[in-house]
Amino acid sequence: MSTSHEAMIESVSRGFARTFGDAEGITIAMAPGRVNLIGEYTDFNDGFVFPMTVDRGVYVALRKRADQTVRVASMRYDELVEYELDQLTAPKPGSWQSYVLGVVEELRQRGALERGFEAVVDGNLNLGAGLSSSAALEVATAVSLQQVFGFELSRVNMVKLCQHVEHNYAKVLCGIMDQFACGIGRSGHALLLDCRSLDYDNIPMELGDYRVVIISSDVKRSLASSAYNTRRAECQAGVDHFSQYDTKIRALRDVSEELFEAVNDALAPVVRRRCRHVFAENRRVLEAVAALRAGALNEFGESMKASHRSLRDDFEVSCAELDMLVKLANGTEGVLGSRMTGAGFGGCTVSIVHRDAVETLTERVNTEYVSRFNLEPIASVLQMNLEAGPVDRSICG
Ligand code: GLA
Repeated sequence: MSTSHEAMIESVSRGFARTFGDAEGITIAMAPGRVNLIGEYTDFNDGFVFPMTVDRGVYVALRKRADQTVRVASMRYDELVEYELDQLTAPKPGSWQSYVLGVVEELRQRGALERGFEAVVDGNLNLGAGLSSSAALEVATAVSLQQVFGFELSRVNMVKLCQHVEHNYAKVLCGIMDQFACGIGRSGHALLLDCRSLDYDNIPMELGDYRVVIISSDVKRSLASSAYNTRRAECQAGVDHFSQYDTKIRALRDVSEELFEAVNDALAPVVRRRCRHVFAENRRVLEAVAALRAGALNEFGESMKASHRSLRDDFEVSCAELDMLVKLANGTEGVLGSRMTGAGFGGCTVSIVHRDAVETLTERVNTEYVSRFNLEPIASVLQMNLEAGPVDRSICG
């Protein structure tokens, strides 16, 4: 178990005691962030994704109250919000409250919370680094409330509720990938998810001498920025076009590459590029997972490289900093493949790196990348990845 996990459990308990006087009878739950190995911008097109959880996340300590008052504090923002359970004033979209209180409100409306509570939120995911701190915040809130109030809600329905919160309280029209990965991903595995049927398969990540390396570009990105929602609208324009030829087409998932080749003339060039990325990326996810299952890590790496090129040139969600990190990695011996991960426009890259090459890659990032952009990148080797759930405090002694 990573020591930072234990340190976070300590930290959130201490934060609770500082904020509310003592930490008697608290329950702690956590949800990890995620890194997407391949399958970008395919989720809201009913396609395939292949993310895994990371070793950091969001921790919530919670305790029921006898009355209807809700008091929630964020350690990160040093803020405390207080209100009566049935009198929420809509929080500012994208603020930490919008994620936490959005989940509380949705559960309250479903009759799951009969009383108020007090809670403290803490975490060790870099906010805005593209590792889904918002999804982790939503899922950790839901898991801790379920643990304390004991309501029935399957994990898949919880994940859907969290996505609904992201749409309606944070105002980002995200797909289901992040909440699903944070809520359902298992340690030692990555998750192949069919975003239409929500069928999923936990695939063991047995990489031998290879490691998953995450490099944060130090370029802060804001998902709420309109670029994400614009991409979604462009994909919908593609669906509207292709469905004229086949009324069964509901999402880009349903468009065959043959139909695309045959009738893409009338599409605006930008929409054509977006569609081309989605078709190819869906295919790449399945190819990459088949390669991983067959132990062909080289091929897995090649799919990652192709994914990055497509995100850069066709979907246009990369940036100069991410491109350089990917280029540095792909040009380092012992790296099988590298790509941007998540929504892009900053955030992180993910690479599959031979353990003997990790140091060289890190050095190159710390010299070449830093001297070009004057930013503070962080390269980390993903160790034991965590899974969402209540936390066993006995490990802290
Ligand atoms: C963000 C969204 C996800 C997904 C990715 C891009 O992380 O929350 O739903 O669309 O971007 O793959």
